[in-house]
Amino acid sequence: MTEEIKRLGRRNFLRAVATLPAAGALAYRALSSGPVHAAIVGVGGQGGVLLENADPAFLRIVSACDIYPPALFRAQETSRKLYGRQIESCRDYRKLLDKKEVEAIVIAAPLSAHAPIAVAALAAGKHLFIEKTMARTVDECRAIVRAGRSAKRVLQVGHQRAYNPIYREAREIVRRGDIGDVHHVRAVWHRNGDWRRKVPDEPFDPRPWGYDDMERLTNWRLYEKHSRGLWTELVSHQMEVVNWFCDRLPTAVIGSGGIHRYPDGREVADHVYAVFEYPEGLTLLCSSIQSNAHDDYSEMFFGTKGTLILTAESQAYLFHEDDRETATMLDVRSASGPLLRASASLTRDAVAESLSPSSISASVLNPYRLELQGFAAAIRGGVPVLCDGQAALQAAVPVLIADEAARRGERMAIPPESYQA
Ligand SMILES: NC(=O)c1ccc[n+]([C@@H]2O[C@H](COP(=O)([O-])OP(=O)(O)OC[C@H]3O[C@@H](n4cnc5c(N)ncnc54)[C@H](O)[C@@H]3O)[C@@H](O)[C@H]2O)c1
Repeated sequence: MTEEIKRLGRRNFLRAVATLPAAGALAYRALSSGPVHAAIVGVGGQGGVLLENADPAFLRIVSACDIYPPALFRAQETSRKLYGRQIESCRDYRKLLDKKEVEAIVIAAPLSAHAPIAVAALAAGKHLFIEKTMARTVDECRAIVRAGRSAKRVLQVGHQRAYNPIYREAREIVRRGDIGDVHHVRAVWHRNGDWRRKVPDEPFDPRPWGYDDMERLTNWRLYEKHSRGLWTELVSHQMEVVNWFCDRLPTAVIGSGGIHRYPDGREVADHVYAVFEYPEGLTLLCSSIQSNAHDDYSEMFFGTKGTLILTAESQAYLFHEDDRETATMLDVRSASGPLLRASASLTRDAVAESLSPSSISASVLNPYRLELQGFAAAIRGGVPVLCDGQAALQAAVPVLIADEAARRGERMAIPPESYQA
C-alpha cells in the first residue's frame, strides 16, 4: 500500500466508525469492592508485559512465580519501580494454590506448562487468566474449559485483540455488512529472523521442570515438546479474530510448511501455510514466515462491497469496491465523534506503547491493560469476558489441527466435537 492509499483507507475506516454506536469503547468502571489480588506464574517476556500493564486499581499483583530466579528478580524490580512495593515470590506454583489472598492466577509460562497449572488453579478455586494459545493439545484445551466450568470461576485467555477498540469497531463494520458478503480472508504474519533468544550464561538446571537444558527453557518455542511453533505463537491470534468477525468456525484445513530456512536443530517449522475452510463459502488463507518481513502482520477481509485491512494491531483501513474515486476526495474533517479521535490516536505501534511503562498510564487504548482490567471487572461481576475459554478453544483447535495437517501435507477435517468441552 502506498502512503496515499493508506491515508484513503484510514479515512474510510474512521468515517465508517463515526456512524457506529460506541462498539469499541471499552471503559471499565473502578471496582467498588477493591482490586482483585493475583499472582503471575511465569514472569519472562510476556509475564513482564502483563505485570507492567496490570492497573493496580483493578488487578493487584501480590505474587510472582517462576522457576528461574533471575526472572523473579526482574519482576521484583518492576514491581518496586512501577508500584512502589515488594511482591512475594516463589518457584513452585502449587504454593499459590492454598493462599487465600490470591484470588486469581495469571499464567504466562511456556505453552507446555499451561494445562497442568491452569487445571490445578481452577480446581483450587482461583480465577484464571491464561496467555494464548490456551494449551498445547486439543485435549488439554478442552480439559481447561471443563475445569473452568466446573469450578464456576472466571476463565479468560490472552487473545488481546478481543480488547482492542480498533478490532471491536472493525468487527461491527463487517457485521453491519459495509463490506458486503465475505468469502475470502487472508492473514499474514511475516518476519525475517530466526526467533532465537540468547541462552543466558548463569548456571541453572531446568531439568526438574521438564526442560532438558537451558536452550530448551530459553528457546522453548522452537521445540515440539513445549510448543507448536508459529501456529500457536502467532496464527492463533488471527484465528480468534476471523472466527469472531465472521461468526463461524473452520471445518477443515489444508496445511503446508517446514523448516525451510533454519535447519539449526529446531523442531517446529519456520514457514507455515494453511487454507482454512469455513461454512457458507468462506476461506481463510494464512501464512506465517520467517524469511521476509515486507508484509508484516495483518488480517484482510475481502467482501463483495469492500475490503477491510487490520495491520500490526494498530491500524485499520477500509476500501470500497465501487466508490474509489469519491472516496479519494473524502476529507477527514467531515468525520466526527469521540471514537474517531480514539481510533486516530492509535497510529503508533500498540505493542511498543504497552512495553514502555512511562506511557502506560497515558494510554487508554492499550489492549493488554484493557484485557486485565476486563478480567478483574468480570471477577467482581457484571461484565462479560470478551475472550473466554470457549472462544479460545475455538481459536486453538484449528491451528493445532493445521499443525498436524502441515506435518502430514494433508487436508484434515476439523470435527465439530473438537470444539466441545
Ligand atoms: N498475547 C501476546 O501477545 C503474547 C506475546 C508473547 C507471548 N505470549 C504468551 O505468553 C506465554 C509466555 O511466553 P514468553 O514469551 O513470556 O516466554 P518466556 O520464555 O519469555 O517466559 C516464560 C517464563 O516462564 C518461566 N517458566 C517456565 N516453566 C515454568 C513453570 N513450570 N512454572 C513457572 N514458571 C515457568 C520461565 O522461566 C520464563 O521466565 C506463552 O504462552 C506465549 O505464547 C503472549
